[in-house]
Amino acid sequence: MELSKIYHENCVETLSRMPDDLLNMTITSPPYDDLRDYNGYHFPVEDIAAGLFAKTKPGGVVIWVVGDRTVGGNETLTSFRHAITFQEAGFNVHDTMIYAKNNPIPSDCGKRYRQSFEYMFCFSKGQPATFNPITQPIKQGKAFKSFRITKVGRNDLAHDHVAPKERKVNNIFYYNVGTSSSRDKIAFEHPAIFPEQLVEDQINTWTNVGDLVYDCFMGSGTTAKVAHLLERRWIGSEISADYVALAQKRLAGVIDKKLSASL
Ligand SMILES: C[S@@+](CC[C@H](N)C(=O)[O-])C[C@H]1O[C@@H](n2cnc3c(N)ncnc32)[C@H](O)[C@@H]1O
Repeated sequence: MELSKIYHENCVETLSRMPDDLLNMTITSPPYDDLRDYNGYHFPVEDIAAGLFAKTKPGGVVIWVVGDRTVGGNETLTSFRHAITFQEAGFNVHDTMIYAKNNPIPSDCGKRYRQSFEYMFCFSKGQPATFNPITQPIKQGKAFKSFRITKVGRNDLAHDHVAPKERKVNNIFYYNVGTSSSRDKIAFEHPAIFPEQLVEDQINTWTNVGDLVYDCFMGSGTTAKVAHLLERRWIGSEISADYVALAQKRLAGVIDKKLSASL
């Protein structure tokens, strides 16, 4: 298969041609609940979950960004149905992360608070092989007394510990949506683009330089752009000819032809 290429087809077709155990990571956002009109395309989630399981390397992950629509006062729970489908396909539900929106679209949600997040499921094929966590500094970096609680109470240990200077961030990630989520004006011709920072954070966490990243619903090409800039190899599928053309236009200024190669 050719790398650095968006296959203009149903991702089920692309997956069927891939060798098994190929992908280090997939990051994607499926069209769910007919929330937006993507030229009327639909997708078979069971086939895609099975395909992704076969084509993901042991230790590889899928980041699946999805939300729910409310229909007749009732949330669809499509997100959790997808999670169960991936679990049944063989993946671990490694972490249910939240993509929280700093500036959600203003809307009247009736007797509900304003919807301001989507799920970012991390499905893994076994234990993730790579984990480069994002960290944040901890203010007090002082030494502290180490102790152990025993049957007779607190028992101070001989040695002191230096408190760690940083810790892993929590699993709720906050991003701006809308015009500040990408510098590429052209990307907004697509109705549902990823914030570039979200893709950057996830790719950095679960892969290393040179790893192969797939997006089965490539849309405006955000995953391709960010993967390229982070020196990962990438491949994508997109069923709409209009969006393939849009992504190619967006990528034209970014992609160095030399990176193209075949598997
Ligand atoms: C939520 S959008 C993805 C947007 C993308 N994350 C971005 O940053 O631009 C989902 C995309 O999936 C495409 N799509 C729908 N069904 C598909 C299928 N079966 N195979 C490949 N692409 C499909 C739609 O045309 C749409 O562009």
